[in-house]
Amino acid sequence: MKFFIDTANLNDIKEAYDLGILDGVTTNPSLMAKEGITGSQNILKHYVAICNIVEGPVSAEVIATDFEGMIREGEQLAALHKNIVVKIPMIPEGIKAIKYFSGKNIKTNCTLIFSAGQALLAAKAGATYISPFLGRLDDVSTDGISLIEQIRGIYDNYAFDTEILAASVRHPMHIIHCAEIGADVMTGPLSAIKALAKHPLTDIGLQQFLADHAKGNK
Ligand code: E4P
Repeated sequence: MKFFIDTANLNDIKEAYDLGILDGVTTNPSLMAKEGITGSQNILKHYVAICNIVEGPVSAEVIATDFEGMIREGEQLAALHKNIVVKIPMIPEGIKAIKYFSGKNIKTNCTLIFSAGQALLAAKAGATYISPFLGRLDDVSTDGISLIEQIRGIYDNYAFDTEILAASVRHPMHIIHCAEIGADVMTGPLSAIKALAKHPLTDIGLQQFLADHAKGNK
């Protein structure tokens, strides 16, 4: 299972990368705005800064919602760095754009997936990744994990190459459930990734070992 971090914060990206378990990064326009990155030139520079930290796929989202605009922006993004993955929304124009990029060997991440039908269309268009937003489904009393499980079954039936990138992960149990049902990738905040390491018995056990070692070495 691959671990991506879902942020545009360079410190968090560096910290996750330094842990040695980070495989890639996802961003979106809201995450860029949260870091105060505005204006197309600054946004493009920021993607390059992220690519310079992480050796792995970095999803960069198009803003256009028409086919020509998505192609123009996507080609500009893809030219920035070999690891850029063009993130495209799940709308009919987006499906056409994914098909276009798949024919050019440009990697894509189809975002804002909330149903199995959307996931099926994106895979047929040749998306490299699809991003089902499991946390946002949970927010509206719908089981996000069940959707990912359903998509896993459909993709396995037909051996689609498209990778399931479980997005909108909020906490460590989301990550564990995604691993249990075979999501290819998960993307979440640094807090959820670091929370996987935590256990009170680990802390208590370590304290005890250090205290006993100190006693024996007095
Ligand atoms: C996906 O790639 C999105 O960037 C992201 O996971 C959305 O998460 P949120 O629902 O926590 O905003």
